[in-house]
Amino acid sequence: MGLGVVGGGVAKVLREKKEAIAEQAGCPLILRKALVRDLSKPRSTQIAADILVTDAYEILTEPEVDIVVEVIGGENPAYEYIKQAVKNRKFVITANKEVMAKHGTELLALAEEHGVDIFYEASVGGGIPLISPLNHDLVASSVSTIYAIINGTTNYILSRMSAEGITFSLALQRAQELGYAEPDPAKDIEGVDAAYKLAILATIAFHSTVRPEDVYHEGITRLTERDFRYAKELGYAIKLLAIAKDIDNSLEVRVHPVFIPEDILLAKIEGVYNAVQLEGDLVGKVLFYGEGAGASPTSSAIVADIINAAHKINSGVEARHKARIFQTKKIKPMAEIETRYYFRMSIVDSPGVLAQIAKILGDNSISIASVIQKGTDDNTQTAEIVIMTHPAQEKAIQRALVEMEGQPVIRQISNFVRVEE
Ligand code: NAP
Ligand code: HSE
Repeated sequence: MGLGVVGGGVAKVLREKKEAIAEQAGCPLILRKALVRDLSKPRSTQIAADILVTDAYEILTEPEVDIVVEVIGGENPAYEYIKQAVKNRKFVITANKEVMAKHGTELLALAEEHGVDIFYEASVGGGIPLISPLNHDLVASSVSTIYAIINGTTNYILSRMSAEGITFSLALQRAQELGYAEPDPAKDIEGVDAAYKLAILATIAFHSTVRPEDVYHEGITRLTERDFRYAKELGYAIKLLAIAKDIDNSLEVRVHPVFIPEDILLAKIEGVYNAVQLEGDLVGKVLFYGEGAGASPTSSAIVADIINAAHKINSGVEARHKARIFQTKKIKPMAEIETRYYFRMSIVDSPGVLAQIAKILGDNSISIASVIQKGTDDNTQTAEIVIMTHPAQEKAIQRALVEMEGQPVIRQISNFVRVEE
């Protein structure tokens, strides 16, 4: 279902690697039908016109179909199609993070009830194995933290803005041309796609359902070339990070841009590459790294899932034990998180202004670590300042932001970004 960037890639692999796939699966795999919206659209993949359909039920009710691959994206009708496929006892492979983040627990239970399974490795991190290692190889460890770059589009945009100084819109356009972006790219740049992915990873890693609405998210649209310049000057890179922490059975789950020290591993992940670094009590730190989007890496994950499903259907052998959701952990409100912050603001360049800002921050128990002031704009008599704070509570920062915005001497709070050490 779906013959776009990912579906087209999967069809190509099924055709080009037919023999090797049959060897792995223990039987030939035949692409019976492909669902599209528009029959007349030119396709990059060679595909027999007579297998294209526009009615999903030609697939969902077809007795010859054992495995349904859902790569149309979005919540609906994909959710309904997956449910129907499972009810009709078909195995499902999906790359749909939105559906799995919102309905995964229910759909996986439904699949178990009907004696089939849903594989969704491609929903997080493109070609990087993540769901499978978390479900199987890491179940003995209790995971305490996840730091992840899990959106290829935004990492590509940030890398190009930082290294080449190209504009946000040009970088986004290029990411779309390369097939990295979601059908609706707002999901990428607003941090929604990464929030879905973090909900999926955190649910498996912490054995407790994390819903997309539990994950605080912010996108990258407020970042400008000036923020990259200051970050470099201060020794940081800017990344869109997905962060999950289990602190005393309370979960912190958030996605937002961060300043991270430029010499750590995650700061060096460039372009469409993703990286997930997690820490478990037994295993210690583990890092997964690879291409997080695009037709080829995503097809790698999907076709492997198809082979596993075919093998399971053929042999009737149950899969290995899978991580279970057996507890309910509290979600920590965003207001209670504690981190360092970067502020960039335009202020009136006159005596006493810095003291006013320092007082607001001090009154809110926010301690200043450093201040940078560049030259004054003589026409407007304003100066740009950058303030780095020591660790402070998010609620104190939000209070201080409101108070500062009310000060006539502060012309504009241009940006504020959290800092992770
Ligand atoms: P895409 O290029 O926009 O392709 C979507 C395909 O689904 C198109 O063939 C479209 O038909 C078809 N389609 C959409 N809505 C439909 C409907 N209501 N009924 C029938 N067909 C419909 O999207 P994509 O990039 O391949 O992404 C697909 C899924 O994979 C999404 O869930 C995405 O999050 C996920 N994913 C994407 C990537 C990536 O790198 N792109 C990586 C991992 C996961 P037409 O061709 O006729 O328009
Ligand atoms: N749009 C997604 C990204 C595709 O850029 O990461 C991979 O899930």
